[in-house]
Amino acid sequence: MPPNLRDLKLILVHTYIMVKDLFERIQNNKGPLGKWASQAEGYFVFPKLEGELGPRMKFQGKDILNWSLNDYLGLANHPEVRKADADAAIEFGAAAPMGARMMSGHTKYHEQLEEELAAFVMKESAYLLNFGYQGMVSIIDALVTRNDVIVYDVDAHACIIDGVRLHSGKRFTYRHNDIESMEKNLARATKLAETTGGGILFITEGVFGMRGQQGKLKEIVAMKEKYNFRLLVDDAHGFGTLGKTGAGAGEEQGCQDGIDVYFSTFAKSMANIGAFVAADKDIIDYLKYNLRSQMFAKALPMIQTIGSLKRLELLRNSSELKDKLWVNVNALQSGLRTRNFNIGDTNTCVTPVYLEGSVPEAMVMVNDLRENYGIFLSIVIYPVIPKGMILLRLIPTASHTLSDIDETLTAFEDIRERLENGTYKEIASRTKVDLDA
Ligand SMILES: Cc1ncc(COP(=O)(O)O)c(C=O)c1O
Repeated sequence: MPPNLRDLKLILVHTYIMVKDLFERIQNNKGPLGKWASQAEGYFVFPKLEGELGPRMKFQGKDILNWSLNDYLGLANHPEVRKADADAAIEFGAAAPMGARMMSGHTKYHEQLEEELAAFVMKESAYLLNFGYQGMVSIIDALVTRNDVIVYDVDAHACIIDGVRLHSGKRFTYRHNDIESMEKNLARATKLAETTGGGILFITEGVFGMRGQQGKLKEIVAMKEKYNFRLLVDDAHGFGTLGKTGAGAGEEQGCQDGIDVYFSTFAKSMANIGAFVAADKDIIDYLKYNLRSQMFAKALPMIQTIGSLKRLELLRNSSELKDKLWVNVNALQSGLRTRNFNIGDTNTCVTPVYLEGSVPEAMVMVNDLRENYGIFLSIVIYPVIPKGMILLRLIPTASHTLSDIDETLTAFEDIRERLENGTYKEIASRTKVDLDA
């Protein structure tokens, strides 16, 4: 007997709503980075670096010269820092304080650190964040409502992009560090905000961590004369490394006052976990009561808080650390430039070396660097940079020596020669690298 209309409907509805196993997609598609796991894990990604943090560590049992720690000032292993961390651990343990700041996790040390950080970056007030990434997501979320418009750099760090994803109103990206595109999008945002009755939040990084360019803060601040917006700056790589006192990219460019909301993580120059946001007191007072990443999370632990007080003291009083960092940055970058390496337009400590080659060639080259020269660095490939380019990223620190730099420059000349004469291409063609993994 043929099915009647009711049966047909049931069959259709049934096929339509068949629910898939949620994990089916995940098991079949590991994501843009996860697809490399079988070839890269343990070596190119998730490598295990052992030994005391610093330029000389061990990788897979071998000594390596390390260029991939963001420990700009060499504080990670500074004896005073290690002692402060250890003393705080003995006095307070890892649990303290228990609870969120608002409820039961507030201490005089948190307050002291906030006051000292605010003074250091020349702002009225500051508030601590447990992590930079989560903190930034939450700051963006707290600063805007659906009537407000966000304008931000297309190459912004993931924490900015993900914060903007929470925004229920409009957003515009501008071409990376491009003044013309910034203006165009500020004009669009202004038109839109005039119809919604909202305001404009402009977000950039103080230093772009992959290519090492400073955000064009001075020019952005100057646009305030023409457009009505507030400026939020993520200065993760500028804090401690740029500016006369180390207050970051705004101080370096003479426009710290024009930054309305200043943010930095402790994960780089401070060699710690945690972060902070600094601004006028009324804005920080608002954030204290509206920043969901802190309101609904346990406070920054005492070890990090007291440890950060010590680090900040060293940032303020040991200018020789920053001087040493810059001696190394200048020696490395000028050494690369005189050897005709393309290091792009970095004007910070972040030192990218751009080479031309495929992903398999890049893998063979980095393997050569690690195994035969003992040099460990990070490698960045498409889609972070254009196809056919390889970016070797070096992070000089105050703990490196000039002989570390000489050793690296010599190794770089050798690997460039092998890249250009096809040695790596030939090795890559023999070693099966599955690009569609
Ligand atoms: C520019 C920038 N913003 C934010 C973060 C996130 O900071 P955290 O590691 O404290 O989560 C990082 C990386 O550490 C960063 O490079």
